[in-house]
Amino acid sequence: MDKQILYAAERFQEYVMEDYDKREKLKEFYLKIKNCEECELSRSRTRFVFGSGNACALVMFVGEAPGKNEDLQGLPFVGQAGKLLDELLNSIGFDRSEVFIANILKCRPPGNRDPRIEEINICKGYLLEQIKIIDPKIICTLGKFSTQLLLNTDKGINTLRGKVFKVDSRIIMPINHPAAVLYTPSRMEILKQDFKKIKRLIDSDGEMPACEEDVLTLESETTGDEQNKDEQLGLF
Ligand code: URA
Repeated sequence: MDKQILYAAERFQEYVMEDYDKREKLKEFYLKIKNCEECELSRSRTRFVFGSGNACALVMFVGEAPGKNEDLQGLPFVGQAGKLLDELLNSIGFDRSEVFIANILKCRPPGNRDPRIEEINICKGYLLEQIKIIDPKIICTLGKFSTQLLLNTDKGINTLRGKVFKVDSRIIMPINHPAAVLYTPSRMEILKQDFKKIKRLIDSDGEMPACEEDVLTLESETTGDEQNKDEQLGLF
């Protein structure tokens, strides 16, 4: 067989095996953690919400915690905020089955209250393992909690949204949480523009556009606040 064709066939087989491996690893991980009882939230949950989508996704979206509908169905972003997320994904030519959607917390906080630091600290390992397995090139953090967690910062979402950060070999782009936008419709246009930017990042195959801010800027601006930063989210 022609050497080039053989090389292409081997690469293709490697990709297929890699995808198979990721799916299997993610499934295995789900089975390992789905009955988690590490915190109080396990007692009030209806269902554990692992996350859903493509195990080989280029892009991952990370929200905060399951709400009422998610708790009932065991799937992330299936309520009103999820409907908006679906519409925004569709607006850039994507379906949710092509990306992976997860939350920091896998169980619903009662009454949809904010996640507590202790809960984040207990649950964040699950998210980090999901990221490790899926290995997306781009992570879009939805709202304050996942942004602060994955960028290891105490800066607010209004300062960070729409910016692009390179962390290790990945791009992290914070955007407003769809639920927050439903409460404040004047932010809708900003969110739509941020999705267009996500599309540009996807089209550049996760490469960092030369003009964007990087994580060094973020770190140098927050170094004076190291201790507070760690106490705030108890990270890393
Ligand atoms: N809000 C979130 O952060 N996650 C969901 O899954 C639903 C709403």
